[in-house]
Parts: sequence; C-alpha cells; structure tokens
Amino acid sequence: MESTIPERIAVVTGSNKGIGLEICRQLLSKGVKVVLTARDEERGIAAVKKLQESGASDVVFHQLDVADVSSAEALGKFIQTQFGKLDILVNNAAVSGAEIEPQALTLSNQPGGGAFSSLLDMTLETHEKAEECININYYGTKRMCKVFISLLQLSQAPKIINLSSGYGRLKCIPGEAIRKKIANINDLTEERLDALVESFLNDFKEEKHKENGWPSRTSAYKVSKVALSAYTRILAKEHPMICTNCVDPGFVKTDINWNTGTRTVEEGAKGPVMLALLPNDSPSGLFYCQTEVSSFE
Ligand SMILES: NC(=O)c1ccc[n+]([C@@H]2O[C@H](COP(=O)([O-])OP(=O)(O)OC[C@H]3O[C@@H](n4cnc5c(N)ncnc54)[C@H](OP(=O)(O)O)[C@@H]3O)[C@@H](O)[C@H]2O)c1
Repeated sequence: MESTIPERIAVVTGSNKGIGLEICRQLLSKGVKVVLTARDEERGIAAVKKLQESGASDVVFHQLDVADVSSAEALGKFIQTQFGKLDILVNNAAVSGAEIEPQALTLSNQPGGGAFSSLLDMTLETHEKAEECININYYGTKRMCKVFISLLQLSQAPKIINLSSGYGRLKCIPGEAIRKKIANINDLTEERLDALVESFLNDFKEEKHKENGWPSRTSAYKVSKVALSAYTRILAKEHPMICTNCVDPGFVKTDINWNTGTRTVEEGAKGPVMLALLPNDSPSGLFYCQTEVSSFE
C-alpha cells in the first residue's frame, strides 16, 4: 500500500527577501506548502513570482505586518479557513534598530573599507528606532505565537522556529543582575520578561541604558534577540507539544547588515529549515548556532 505524507503547511514571516525568502525556497523543495508573507504586498507578490519562475508551485502570498495585531489575526483567519491547521511557524521578520549614513555605506564598499564593526560605529540609534526594533523583533514574534498556537496544536508535528542571532546570547547583556533574571528559567515568566524589556526602553529613553547594564551598541537589536531567545524557552516550557527552538543563522550577507555578511542566504537558511523538519519528539527550547545545538549563555 502506498504511504502518503500528510500535507505540511508553513508560515514564514518577513519572507519577501533575505534569509526568509531562502527558507521558503528550501521548505518548498522539501514538499512543504509555504505561505510567504510580507508587510508590503508588492514586494511579497514579486517574491512569490520569483519562486514560481524557478519551478515552485506550492507557494501562496498573504500580507503580514508583524507590528500590527489585526494583520496577524487576518493571516490567522486565512490559515484557519484554507488549511484548518498550521505545522510550521518561522518567526523571521526583523529590523536592525539602527540607521546608517549613506556615506558610510559608500566607504564600506571601497576595497579594504567597511568591516561590520566599523559600520556599527557609524550607526545612529534613536529611541524611536529602538521602540520599533523591540516591537517588531520581540513583540512581533509574540503576536504571531499568540495567534497561531491554537492552529499549531492541531498539527501532528508542530514547530516554531525563532530567528535569533549571535547577539541573542545572554553574554551580550553586560549587567549581571539582568543576566541572572533572564537566565533563571524557573522564575522567568512572560510578564517578567516583558517588564525587563520595557525597563530597557525606559532606560534607553533617559540615556541611562549603558549605566544600568544594557548593551551600549546595537542595544535594541541585542535586547530584542536576547528576549526572543528567552521567550523561546518559556514557550517550550508552556507548550511541550510544540517543538520550539531558536537559531542564529550566522553572519549572512543581507540588507539587515548592509550586505556586509560573509555567508550566503543558502547557508543561513539551513539551520531554520533543519529545525522546521525535525522528527517528532525532538528536543525543544534550545538555542542553535546554524545547524548545531549551542549555548544560550
Ligand atoms: N543576516 C544576518 O547576518 C543575520 C544574523 C543573525 C540573525 N539574523 C536574523 O535573521 C532574520 C532574517 O534577517 P535577514 O538577514 O534576512 O534580513 P533582511 O534581508 O533585512 O530581511 C528582513 C525581513 O523582515 C521583514 N520585516 C521587517 N519588519 C517587518 C514587519 N513589521 N512585518 C513583517 N515583515 C517585516 C523585511 O521586510 P521589508 O522588505 O518590508 O523591510 C524583510 O523581509 C532576522 O530575524 C535577523 O535578525 C540575520
């Protein structure tokens, strides 16, 4: 008798370009039906077209701005009506939280100029950008999880993959007291984690973040990713039936780092895709560096 693999449905956030688009491509090549999402409809439809032109057929587009709860809910309704369940949620959408002078980018394009760290010295981090970064990278992922957990619970092998970063490790937070609170998974709740994130934003607004133990550079991005890594552990504890992990894709050449990365999107997508296709009963709540289990510390 022929055995059929049940249809698997994946939603990938922020997948009109970069690592997200490549995650869609790799999932499609493994027979997963993909809902490619983008906040901008034109950019999203163009990305779907690109995939279709390269031979993929099982891909559909739906608008999604993770900063907007009604947009996330509309996508939830679409998935509910079309498929009645969700198997894979990849929380990939993110912003850097920093602006850069165009002149700095010109300099970085010259031979020998522009390592990532020297570009970072030329970035501007405003309170507005920090709020946006936390809202998209951290709260955006939480919004998506809240909308999709009940649909994931209807899957036979549900997975959540959160795109973290090398900057999503605890050691990126200089303050020991803050690190201790985040590391203590037995005591850490969503409410306590949100309160810590809010205290960062307040400290940032009052320009007290450095003295109060928060990172001094790319601070909102680091805080958003550390909080996301910690939230992954909370989710795994609260929903043991859903295999939830986070992953640092490595330093990949994309717009988020002004194309200074050293790895290709194909390499960067490997870890998230491997986690999306893990067999049932695989470990949950872990921090991966690319395809290997690593330490959150
Ligand atoms: N590249 C690296 O070296 C690196 C390293 C560590 C971690 N990561 C993580 O990997 C993930 C993918 O990043 P990437 O390198 O592929 O960057 P990217 O090319 O800049 O892609 C980011 C994606 O997120 C989307 N996005 C931003 N805000 C959104 C919102 N409010 N709602 C929906 N989508 C939104 C962007 O859409 P628009 O086109 O509309 O802006 C874009 O599609 C991120 O989580 C990033 O933090 C990347």
